[in-house]
Amino acid sequence: MTSSAPLATPKTPTHNLTPRAIRTCGINFNHWYVVASSTEVTDQPYPVTLWKQAIVLFRDQAGQVHTIEDRCPHRQVLLSEGKVVGNHLVCAYHGWEFAADGRCAAIPYLAENQKLPNCQLQIYPVREQDGFIWLFPGEADPETVPLMGLPEWEHLNYIGSFTTIDCPGHYSFLIENLMDMYHGHLHDNYQAWASAQLQALETSATRVDAHYEAQSYYRIDKIWSVSQLFIPVLRQLHPEPLDVSYVYPHWASRLGDDFKIYCLFCPVDETRTRAYLIHFTSLQRFWRLHKLPIAFRRGVKNLLFNAAKGLLDNLVRQDVAMIEQEQAAFNENPQQRGYELNRAIAAVQKLIWQQAQAESEEARSQ
Ligand code: FES
Ligand SMILES: [Fe+2]
Repeated sequence: MTSSAPLATPKTPTHNLTPRAIRTCGINFNHWYVVASSTEVTDQPYPVTLWKQAIVLFRDQAGQVHTIEDRCPHRQVLLSEGKVVGNHLVCAYHGWEFAADGRCAAIPYLAENQKLPNCQLQIYPVREQDGFIWLFPGEADPETVPLMGLPEWEHLNYIGSFTTIDCPGHYSFLIENLMDMYHGHLHDNYQAWASAQLQALETSATRVDAHYEAQSYYRIDKIWSVSQLFIPVLRQLHPEPLDVSYVYPHWASRLGDDFKIYCLFCPVDETRTRAYLIHFTSLQRFWRLHKLPIAFRRGVKNLLFNAAKGLLDNLVRQDVAMIEQEQAAFNENPQQRGYELNRAIAAVQKLIWQQAQAESEEARSQ
């Protein structure tokens, strides 16, 4: 194992983490989490939960996304059950109105001699970027924390597809699934690669990079080569590097030059994780296409958007069925240790633990 940056010194040793420690581990709030896709957030309230915090998202009249604690300070009901009127979020119960800054802005039955209550709902730093809504739930300065982003989302040479993962398991199960390329066994014909072998592992205080060598049929250089994706007998295997990275708290991967997948995480609580799986196919090798007018290329990109969604849905269905069983087995017997041969998994668990420790140490020092 090589180390590209010094590891943080944790208070608790990481060499012998118990299943209970990992499978109930909290998150480090001082990162950008993805809580929704851009299309999910409209001018009506959209509720999300990020590590047990109920948050409501909505767009104002200018299309700007706002994020407010999902709790009416009057009677503690969910604000997301109300409506957006103008630029205000209006509670369903008695119609109190809240502005995007989290302050009470109007009450329909306020008497002339009464003042608006001086309440302040929690609001969160938020950015809309690359098709998703990124929220920063921590206390640190969000400007100092990098947001991973998806450079291919707007790039004209990439065709994107995405799906959501509603995973009935702790986020550690999902990231371990994504970092362990030996689980290609599960996906059989849905998978673009086979016979992965871990070659190298790099770790730092914020990421784990695992480099595998795999066999792949995925090379999109001629129109007919796309048919390999759907017709297994046409597939011709060749060796390709398969790199997967846990860029805390998200995941990025690439297979050769033409294939990239990201997974953007929104851990909900100890037993639920929401995530977005985004796949990009590169059109880099179709050099004639790049000489065409930009409007045409954008038209091709938009036309082919979500072409791989069916494949992603099938992969997710298979993975989720396994993770559900892992979580159920943990619930039944939290002491039970599994057997593990892939050293990338120990590195992932260490990073999960150290990031959560960093969060609790920061909380203690405040
Ligand atoms: S509970 Fe929200 S206005 Fe009364
Ligand atoms: Fe999988």
